[in-house]
Amino acid sequence: MTSNESGFQLKGTGPEAYERYMVPIHCLTRAEDLIDRVSLQPGEHVLDVACGTGIVSRYAARRVGYLGHVTGVELNPAMLQIAREVSAYVEQIKFLEGSALDLPVSDSQFDVVLCQQAIMFFPDRHAAAREMYRALKPGGRVGLNVWRTPEFNPAFDHLITALEKHAGAEAGAFMRSPFIMKSVAEMRSFFEQAGFSDISVINRIDTLRYPSVEHLVRYETLNIPDPEIHKKEMQEALIGEMNRLVEAYIDDHGVAFPVQDFVVVARR
Ligand SMILES: C[S@@+](CC[C@H](N)C(=O)[O-])C[C@H]1O[C@@H](n2cnc3c(N)ncnc32)[C@H](O)[C@@H]1O
Repeated sequence: MTSNESGFQLKGTGPEAYERYMVPIHCLTRAEDLIDRVSLQPGEHVLDVACGTGIVSRYAARRVGYLGHVTGVELNPAMLQIAREVSAYVEQIKFLEGSALDLPVSDSQFDVVLCQQAIMFFPDRHAAAREMYRALKPGGRVGLNVWRTPEFNPAFDHLITALEKHAGAEAGAFMRSPFIMKSVAEMRSFFEQAGFSDISVINRIDTLRYPSVEHLVRYETLNIPDPEIHKKEMQEALIGEMNRLVEAYIDDHGVAFPVQDFVVVARR
């Protein structure tokens, strides 16, 4: 990725696989948590920045009800296509193609801006925070979550190690790329510099569970563009390696890990 390109641009069947496999594992409880933390109320107008296939928009729509409204903005038209298909019967959501760095919305339009698991992919995070501020009404709230670094997320720390060993540095770097946010201070700085007040950064600790180590490897490597990764022998090598590395996390129901995010809530 060059410095002014956005990351996580899924192609082909990537967006479908994201909705089918990633959303249930990674996005549902996070979306509920984010909506609770901003105390989303019936009737409010919400902007979901980098909405992907629209899971946060759908949860927000349930909370704001028929008097509220949700706008999802997403850079990747293939993600938006799935978002529109999956949300087809939810009246109060509209999806727009556009960048988090230049949101296609008016000033002071929203009560709440949400952004789940996306800021790490923006080439200019300060610009994105300024755009969130611009889109909010005075007094409006922002809620954002993002992974911490791999040492706080052992499933991925070990998967990076396994990929580096069996598939090479590039595959490891691809897996590492979303896990870059280092500190509470760094998170706070984006929002402080954009003009937000009442900024609170929480280290949220949750459980990440897969039905088996094989599911972990198959799901989490789905979006790696290198076709070598998807060959039978490579998948078997990765599953074997991961079974060794994560043995201590295996239980009678599959495999479970602690998972850590930063969650930011602030006010315009
Ligand atoms: C991991 S997904 C998260 C999607 C969604 N928020 C969710 O919770 O499922 C990250 C999303 O950020 C989008 N994205 C990356 N850069 C972007 C940008 N500059 N503007 C808007 N969306 C962007 C990607 O296309 C992708 O859909």
